[in-house]
Amino acid sequence: MTPTRLALIGFGTVGQGFAEILAERGERLATRHGLAPTIVAISDFHRGSVYRERGFDPKELLGAADDLERLEADAKGWDALTTIRRSEADAVAELSFTDLTTGEPALTHVREALARGMDVVTTNKGPIALHFAELRALAAEHGAGIGVEGTVMSGTPTLALGAGLLASAGVTRIQGILNGTTNYILTRMEAGLDFASALAEAQREGYAEADPSGDVDGIDAAGKVVILANLVMDAPIGMADVERRGIREVSAADVAAAAEAGERWKLIGSVERAPEGGVRAAVRPQRVPLSHPLAGIGGATNACTFTTDLLGDVTLVGPGAGRLATGYALVEDLIALRGRR
Ligand code: HSE
Repeated sequence: MTPTRLALIGFGTVGQGFAEILAERGERLATRHGLAPTIVAISDFHRGSVYRERGFDPKELLGAADDLERLEADAKGWDALTTIRRSEADAVAELSFTDLTTGEPALTHVREALARGMDVVTTNKGPIALHFAELRALAAEHGAGIGVEGTVMSGTPTLALGAGLLASAGVTRIQGILNGTTNYILTRMEAGLDFASALAEAQREGYAEADPSGDVDGIDAAGKVVILANLVMDAPIGMADVERRGIREVSAADVAAAAEAGERWKLIGSVERAPEGGVRAAVRPQRVPLSHPLAGIGGATNACTFTTDLLGDVTLVGPGAGRLATGYALVEDLIALRGRR
């Protein structure tokens, strides 16, 4: 078994969830999947940066997560690009913050790693929603792999299923509840809470983006629609191609009226083949009957229905955020990439 030497760019919730999985389930990953990742470097803007040639025990990283530079290391204080250039890692986990306008700084990190022939695994929607075609070509040019499972529905294997097993069944439409925060808010509004209290709860539970307007206005869901369109339907659309409306326009009275009629409001992200060619993509609040496959999805849970030529509808339901759920997406990507090393 060849160990994969990993450099982590960012050691927040996702990186720490990943380290916890390695600490608790490393043996199972090795025996079941032949996967033995060793974290040799971490660079985090707030928590510090460390490199150790022989690697770190995930438990010691978790114990020093607030100040990594307390650890004994061969080098400290490297910024992200120096870490990518000097750590001699096989793979980079890009886990810095998401920016769906520029994709930076993650975009620069991912480009640098791929251009050096390093595999990249990332949960960061920014570079993938904005520059997937370029990054895929860069990876191919340099013999590197790129794993992005955690960008949509965290570790729920949406892209593995959609872009892998379902793509050849002829996917004609994808509809999903792709943002946990807004689904949580709508669910709590059905229980009688007002919008602001429901949002505050979602933030306390840790579902919301740093700036929750990205959730509430449908930007986060639009990024995921773009990623699904590109990876599952080979449709090269960008953020501007998604017709987007968020949930601010759904009032408490709208929610109550739907409930009275036996219906529900859901923020649905969709992409479908258009009769005139290409695809149509949208994120918008929709009032759906209880018979709709996505109507029963409550709280922060996510779901995605793939409509296919050969199988009809296939619906996947699971978490869309969370420390271990998103950390596990990196494990899935590493398993998928492991044959390459
Ligand atoms: N803010 C996102 C959500 C987290 O609420 O679903 C995962 O992208």
